[in-house]
Amino acid sequence: MKKQNIFALLKKDHEKVSQLFSKIEKAGDKAVAKKETLYAKIREELTIHSFGEEKAVYPLLKENEKTQDIGWESVEEHGVVKYLFSKIDAATAGTPDWKALVTVLKEVVEHHVEEEESEMFSKMRKAFSKEELDLMGVNFVKAKKMTNVKELKAKTLHKPAKPTAGTSMAMQ
Ligand SMILES: [Fe+2]
Ligand SMILES: [Fe+2]
Repeated sequence: MKKQNIFALLKKDHEKVSQLFSKIEKAGDKAVAKKETLYAKIREELTIHSFGEEKAVYPLLKENEKTQDIGWESVEEHGVVKYLFSKIDAATAGTPDWKALVTVLKEVVEHHVEEEESEMFSKMRKAFSKEELDLMGVNFVKAKKMTNVKELKAKTLHKPAKPTAGTSMAMQ
């Protein structure tokens, strides 16, 4: 099995998402469709990345004394990100509400990534052997492949038409 450096893998994904956030920020106020597509991409990338971490990294962190606190904290931060996805999905792209939620998502993700790349990485280096970290890398790649990208795309890019104000949400 090819060796996979877990730190490089995580950083690469983080960088990809950070570039997408920069693009969404640069897109003009009128580029609503472009912003919506960029958001869908961010959601997809983050969902796959988070799933990989939740399957291959965090469970091991939670079992080790040196990393357990940051492991549990990371899980909770993913929970906040997922909550924000649900709020953004329910909002209409381009509205002040939607824009504010995307900004909050960016800030939460930036904080989370910063913490992973500093505190979490350094604690992982102290807690695990080179072999354990390499195996984590291999398992992270495997776990990411388990996510159904097609299904994710269907969920984020082809949402049902939003009801107009005042109509029932019951059918959603
Ligand atoms: Fe991460
Ligand atoms: Fe994470």
